[in-house]
Amino acid sequence: MSKYTIGWLPGDGIGVDVMDAARVVLDKLRLDAEYVHGDIGWKFWCKEGDAFPQRTVDLLKHVHAGMFGAITSKPVKAAETELVPELRGKDLVYRSPIVRMRQMFDLYTCLRPCKGYPGNPLNLKEGIDLVVFRENTEDLYAGVEFNPVPEELAATLGKLSKPFGAFKDVPLDQYAISCKVNTKKGSERIARAAFEFARAHKRKKVTIIHKANVVRATDGLFFEEAKKVAKEYPEIQVDDANVDAICMWLLKNPLSYDVLVAPNLYGDIISDLAAQMVGGLGFGCSGNIGAKLGVFEPSHGSAPKYAGQYKVNPIATILAAKMMLDWLGETTMGTRVEQATAAVIKEGKVRTYDMGGTSSTLDLAHAIAGRL
Ligand code: NAI
Ligand code: MG
Repeated sequence: MSKYTIGWLPGDGIGVDVMDAARVVLDKLRLDAEYVHGDIGWKFWCKEGDAFPQRTVDLLKHVHAGMFGAITSKPVKAAETELVPELRGKDLVYRSPIVRMRQMFDLYTCLRPCKGYPGNPLNLKEGIDLVVFRENTEDLYAGVEFNPVPEELAATLGKLSKPFGAFKDVPLDQYAISCKVNTKKGSERIARAAFEFARAHKRKKVTIIHKANVVRATDGLFFEEAKKVAKEYPEIQVDDANVDAICMWLLKNPLSYDVLVAPNLYGDIISDLAAQMVGGLGFGCSGNIGAKLGVFEPSHGSAPKYAGQYKVNPIATILAAKMMLDWLGETTMGTRVEQATAAVIKEGKVRTYDMGGTSSTLDLAHAIAGRL
């Protein structure tokens, strides 16, 4: 029996291309693992009415870790029209499988390192090394949403909230409500994950991101909980910033930032920004980490226009595999993957289109594997 069982979920679009590339690297390392394929993605929504079938949920209950490529998601109405005819009109509602996976398995930490490897022509500046901790299970992603708005909800809000008066005469089918739900527990544990990481990796500073001056209830709570956690880590410098301001400051002074911690949506936004500062989505790797399971993925989506062309950059996914190795405790292998990737970037001979080259997804994977 292999030491590890890895749930292998390529998904669709370029998810398949980049996962093939990650396998080239993992196979070269000879990680003692069995990779078990799991169905996930758009095709399974259309055919079965579920993009994250129960058999894949069950698979993830029995693996040491998971690797995930990408999936296509579409708005609710567009999703309904693509179902096979026999599933239409059955009140099936599309919800992003990756969001469901994060919530179902309580993968509450979304860890997104954004490091500018020396010599990457796409670096905004040399020396950028940011680590984003995004809360991964609640906030505006909680899934508590209404469109149209139920009368009962409107009546209750009318009673409880003065500002809601501005909407009280709007017909119920003319507006929508998405609830931002942030708990003390959720805020505390993501802040703790960020500070623990900072301590373990000797990072200097943690920046708490919020919009507590305007979104007072939820972001206020997040900020307060994060500040409480910060007090337990006196050796780490703490600051905070509004989410809009941090977008400006990150671009202006990227070298002044280190670890960043944010609620779900803001974390999503700033991690794309941070990824672009170190080369774009082709470099943005991500770990969805809970107490028992870690599922690692590139932070990009399925980029349908490039699907199956083996043209896109696999580095984000290869670095996600590195994160998985580290999380499994195989840190020597993790470090080797990172060093090999950095060496190939620096040498600059094998580059995908986004880096100005003409190499394929698999050429780049083989170049990295060749350096191991
Ligand atoms: P996307 O991330 O798929 O692609 C946006 C653009 O970024 C691409 O057109 C391409 O120019 C570039 N890009 C992305 N990955 C790249 C790579 N590895 N190498 C080089 N360039 C790369 O985002 P988009 O177009 O907004 O969404 C496409 C689909 O993916 C949608 O259905 C969306 O819902 C889904 N999505 C899925 C995610 C996931 O599976 N976790 C995350 C984000 C989007
Ligand atoms: Mg995103």
